[in-house]
Formats: sequence, structure tokens, C-alpha cells
Amino acid sequence: MCGIIGYTGNGNAEKIMLDALELLEYRGYDSAGIALLHQGRTQIIKRAGRVKDLRKLCETVKPVGCCGIGHTRWATHGGVCDENAHPHRFGPVTLIHNGIIENYRELMEKYHLEGRLASETDSEVAAAVVEHFYTGDPYSAIRRTVLKLKGTFAFAIMFDDQPDKIFAVRNVSPIVAALTQDGAILASDVAAVAPFTTDYFVLPEFHVVCLEKEKVSLFDLSGDHAQIDWLKVDWDVSRSGKCGYPFYMEKEIMEQPQVIRETIAPRIRDGRPDFSAEQIPDSLFTDCKRICVIACGTAMHAGLVGKSLIQAMIGIHVDVVMASEFMYNDPVVDKDTLVIAISQSGETIDTLEALKFARKCGSPSICVVNVMGASIARAGEYVIYTHAGPEIAVASTKAYTTQLAVLYLITARMAMARGLWSGEELSDFMAELERVPQVIRRVLDTKEEIHRLSGAVLNARDVFMIGRGLDYSILLEGSLKLKEVSYIHSEAYASGELKHGTIALITEDTPVIAVVTQEKLKSKELSNIREVQSRGARVLLLIKENETLDAGEQWSCVYRLPQMKDPFMVMPASVALQMIAYFVSLDKGLDVDKPRNLAKVVTVE
Ligand code: F6R
Repeated sequence: MCGIIGYTGNGNAEKIMLDALELLEYRGYDSAGIALLHQGRTQIIKRAGRVKDLRKLCETVKPVGCCGIGHTRWATHGGVCDENAHPHRFGPVTLIHNGIIENYRELMEKYHLEGRLASETDSEVAAAVVEHFYTGDPYSAIRRTVLKLKGTFAFAIMFDDQPDKIFAVRNVSPIVAALTQDGAILASDVAAVAPFTTDYFVLPEFHVVCLEKEKVSLFDLSGDHAQIDWLKVDWDVSRSGKCGYPFYMEKEIMEQPQVIRETIAPRIRDGRPDFSAEQIPDSLFTDCKRICVIACGTAMHAGLVGKSLIQAMIGIHVDVVMASEFMYNDPVVDKDTLVIAISQSGETIDTLEALKFARKCGSPSICVVNVMGASIARAGEYVIYTHAGPEIAVASTKAYTTQLAVLYLITARMAMARGLWSGEELSDFMAELERVPQVIRRVLDTKEEIHRLSGAVLNARDVFMIGRGLDYSILLEGSLKLKEVSYIHSEAYASGELKHGTIALITEDTPVIAVVTQEKLKSKELSNIREVQSRGARVLLLIKENETLDAGEQWSCVYRLPQMKDPFMVMPASVALQMIAYFVSLDKGLDVDKPRNLAKVVTVE
């Protein structure tokens, strides 16, 4: 939540920051602002609205300076208005913030701030506390402030009398920093740094970084120099634009064959799943008595598919827990529980906190993360990176299918390590996994057909999605996708559960999307479809290409999915559902990549 940028150097700071804010906008888009420090004077330009609106304002104001900080906001404390936009200024201190200061009310009282603040934000309170402690030594002021704060924060701070310098500190919320050819830069994530350099580092928690034109210096909170651990950007920057697509979501859907291949290929050796590069010992897969997957949203839906696979093929119990609920259900995890934390961003605070708790309980852990060096990747014992590349659209697509790809690999390695499969069974499974990219390509090639079929739900107020077992897990994700990008109310229902209440909502012409991909569930699923059809529902059916349908029945809308073995049908079906959601949003003329109220990275609880 919230994107942060800071730049000092000989480049055009205003342009660098505005361009970076556009790349970071998926983290929040309620308001945007920049501040430039020039000859002891700080100029702030900010407003509610998008970065493009801020850009227009800057064209009129024409700010001057080559040292600046910028912010794109997802509102937490205080509504969406110009005053609450960042940067915030208090005396000589100008600050931007990502996170939540939980004790901001106490701080207001303690430092007599009532009536002295220009905004309703917790962030301005932090700026005021820094100002309170500032007597010319930024490190001391930052250290003393941080010791007073409860909550999460990533701050970038400028002081009027510290020319060309930007200071930053963080707890939980991310900051990365780097040197560029003509300056130094910091940002909430690598996407904004990658256009300038491939070398960057993650600011360690409770450390202060100081950016100057030609150097970056890192200190711990006692003021001692700390060593910088440099990392390399692991994606191709030329792939981070829209590449001719109208929206990132479409581009990212289309990239799936390639990124799935890139995720699985390095982990297959001699036709077998291989995690030696990740240094994951087989004992992790053989010693656990149960598995607990923790994740949120789409990543949790990937976990549900993993549960079906592992329970069916390995025969051990898997719980999938919403990370946001994990701590409130008296979690029982121990050294016999393998915890798998799944997160695209690697920064989701609920997942991070749940993982930290599980590790304290002695659970071994694997994190499945897309962003290199992210907090969750560093908090886990082992990490398997999905190689989805930057996912910019708020609605997750390619991150989800690469997470699934990793879960197939984990299942296969676990079966192998436990000696559960014959050589032939293992090769069949792996061969099917390697076929996924080409099968998804076939779905993508039917773009026009899916666009036409999406018309079945375009004008709906409510949509129901029904299926059983793996099909139900597929639909949970398909339904989330439709909701978030089209604003259509949609619910995924386990179809056997319909008769226990929900079928009351099915009336004449209610659109229902049904997925039937599992042989063992087919006849029951088709019966459930007939039940809703006989109440007047209009059904869009997704079914395998070689299934025969009873000619006597009314199938107005059928999409034929390319054939895979049943456990793998999740892949083509999920991609078809992603495309339905995308086309509905597109045809409604919505901002597909930035749905209202959402942000890509959820770093507040
Ligand atoms: C939906 C979506 C979210 C995320 C969830 C977890 O399209 O993207 O539901 O999956 O916020 O985010 P990560 O994976 O970054 O932990």
C-alpha cells in the first residue's frame, strides 16, 4: 500500500519521480505528490487523483530541484483529499510514509499536536515527531522518532538544511535503494529502480539509509555503519511496459505460457522435479506430518489447489488458512507442520506475520514468492521464486498460475521423496506439467471466442459460479477476478451446497458459470447444473473438449477447454476465467488495471 520514491542526483528529479510514481501507482492511487528540495527550500506539489493529474499540475507549477521524494497513496487514515496527500511537512521536515502508525493519537497528545496539523493522517504526526527531535542531526531525530512509534512504516525524509540528502527508515513496509549513473534512488519496490540499474539492496528494518548524489550510506539505529547486501534485478526490464496491450492485465494473461515455462524449466532435471538450487532438503518433504498453507486472496486460492493435489496424491492433511485470520484462530502449528507461505509481492503483512509466528513455533517453512528479496522471502526458511516477472495489474493472473506451477513441482518432489510414485508415474506427471504452457497458449488463441462468451455476464448484477472439488477452487479464483475488475457481484459455490440455501437466489436469467473438468465429479456437477437450469438460469459451461454433452439438453453457451489430465485442468480453466473477467471489465470501459479501492500490495492489516 502506497508507493514511495526518492531521488537525488544530476538527473531531472521531477521527471524521474513522476515516471517512477506511474510504475508504483498500482500500490495505491488515491492521491499523488512530490517534494523537491532546492537551496534550502522545499516545494510540495500534491493532489487527490492519479499520477497523471499530478503530472498536469507540475506542468503548471514547474518545480525546481534535483533532490526529491514522491508518493502515491492508498488512503488509510483520513479521506481522499489534497490535504491528506503526501508529502507532509512540519517545520523543516518533509516526509512520505507507507504503513500505519498505530499510536498516532497518543503521539498527538504527547507532543501537543492538536490543532497544529494540516491533515488527518498518521503520517503527518510522524513528520511532527521527527521535527520535535530535530536539532540538526537527522540520524538522531530519526532514531528517537522510530523508538516512539508503534506500527509499520517506510519513511523517506528530507530536511530543509540537509541539501541533496534523503533519509529513509523502515519497519515491515518495504524500501529498496540503489545508485544510478547520475545519482541515488530509493523506492517501495524494484519496479521503479529497475529502469536505472540492475544492482539494488533492500533496506534492512530499523536501519537508516542516507542517499547523496554519489553515494548511499547505511547505518544501524545506534549510528554505526552497516554493510549493504547488494542484489541483482532478476527480470528483463524491457518486458515491464505494456508492450502494445491496452492494459497490463491482458499483457500479463498473455505472458503466462512463457513465465510458467521460466518457472518450471530450471526446476526440472532429467525429467524430475529438482529444488537443489533452492537448497531444499528432501527431509522437509518427508518429515512433515501435515502442511499448512498461509496466504491471502488469489495466493490463497492457489493454496487451495495445492491442498487438493497434495491430499489426493500424497495423502497427508493440508490446511489452507487465510493469513488475515490465522492469528485469530489459535493456530496449531509445530515442528511436524510444513508451512507454505504464498505471496506474489512477498510483502502482504498478514502472511508475513503468520509466517513469523509459525517459525517461532518451530515449523519448517517454504515461501513461494515472486519478488526477489521481499520480506516474506527473507522471513522464511526456504524460498522458491516464481519467475512471473513484475505483475503490475492489480488483479493477479500470471503470479497465480506460476504459484500453481510451483505447487505441482512441490507435489511431485514430495511424492518422489516419499517413494510414492513409480518412475513412470513421475514422468507422466512431469510431462503433463511441461505441456501446460502450450495448452494455455491454445486457450489464449481463442481470445475472440472468449470475448464473445463474456457477453453472457456483461450486464449481470449477480453471477454465480458452480463446481465441485478442484472445479470449485478454480471458481473461487475466477469469481474473485470477475468481482475485482468488473464490480459485478459474483459468488463461487460448491455446487452440492446450492440446495442448502443459495439456490433461492437463482431466478429466471441469472447467469451461472459452471466448470466441469474432473471426471469423477462430472455426473454430479451436471446434475447440479440441470437444477439451476430448471429454475431459469442461463449457464455458461466450461468443459473439456472431448466430453460429449447430451444432445437433448439446452447448451447455449459452452466453452471447450483443451484437454489435460484432470489435476492439470485448473490451468486452462483458470486462464479462460481470467479472460472472461478481463473482457467484461474492458467492455464496461473500466480501468482494468486499477480497480477502485484496491492496491497491489497489502502492507496494512
Ligand atoms: C487478487 C489479488 C489479491 C492478492 C492478495 C495477496 O487479484 O491479487 O487477492 O492475491 O492481496 O497478495 P500477495 O500475493 O502479494 O501476498
